[in-house]
Amino acid sequence: MKTLEMAFMQGFIRMADDGFRMGWHERNGGNLSYRIKPEEVALIKGRLRHDAPWVPIGAHVPSLAGEYFLVTGSGKFFRDIKDDPEGTLAIIEIDDKGENYQIKWGLVEGGKPTSELPAHLMNHAVKRAKSEDYRVIYHAHPANIIALTFVLPLKDEVFTRELWEMATECPVVFPDGVGVVGWMVPGGEAIAIETSKLMERYDAVIWAHHGIFCAGDGAHTTFGLMHTIEKSAEILVKVLSMSPAKLQTIEPDNFRDLAGAFHVSLPERFLYEKESNTIIGKE
Ligand code: 13P
Ligand code: ZN
Repeated sequence: MKTLEMAFMQGFIRMADDGFRMGWHERNGGNLSYRIKPEEVALIKGRLRHDAPWVPIGAHVPSLAGEYFLVTGSGKFFRDIKDDPEGTLAIIEIDDKGENYQIKWGLVEGGKPTSELPAHLMNHAVKRAKSEDYRVIYHAHPANIIALTFVLPLKDEVFTRELWEMATECPVVFPDGVGVVGWMVPGGEAIAIETSKLMERYDAVIWAHHGIFCAGDGAHTTFGLMHTIEKSAEILVKVLSMSPAKLQTIEPDNFRDLAGAFHVSLPERFLYEKESNTIIGKE
């Protein structure tokens, strides 16, 4: 089967283009990866190349040995993916030690996988250990999430609670909450390690003054998670722009009622009492 006609490829391209049109991918901002299923690899194997050099990943991911990933290319613009997938995307294979990758398809005019490959692969390793269903890691630069990292304390509890309060659906969509990494140099193993530690408990991890990573089982749900979090952040930015205090909000007991009605468990550490109705309140 033609690689470009595969459903996973079409879903990936659509997701990247949707993200661009949301305004989350200025220039080459953001990156996306999908862990390809063995049965999907089998359908395209005859069309893959096997002559590219093996290149160090920059991280150690032995549990991903032999896996294939569809990834965005470093420096490639999300704006171009829809019109030029073979020039902007790559399919890579991980070697038997989990230390090197080989380009099997794509990047026809040269280039390499995203500079955030260590973070993508370490997050995939953590998520796959939890469930084989996890297949997508998505990094974007949505403006409202980034804006909040300048005014909210960089704490998982504060970000989770404030985002939950902004839209009733939020605790149902991300009941485990969101993690936050303080500012770090991007593109290396150190930030990948910090992010993957938080991916042990969350499906979304915010990078202060940079962006956010989301994990999920497919293009649709992972895009939906990103969209829900950024929409909530947008509402919070609007609220903060109008007033430092909320006149009313969703209270801890409301969240407990919601958890019962929607059969989700919401960790009590996010349902702390606040001393005032200022936007952050006291933990
Ligand atoms: P790449 O172009 O290497 O994917 O980098 C974009 C980015 O968002 C880095 O964090
Ligand atoms: Zn980035």
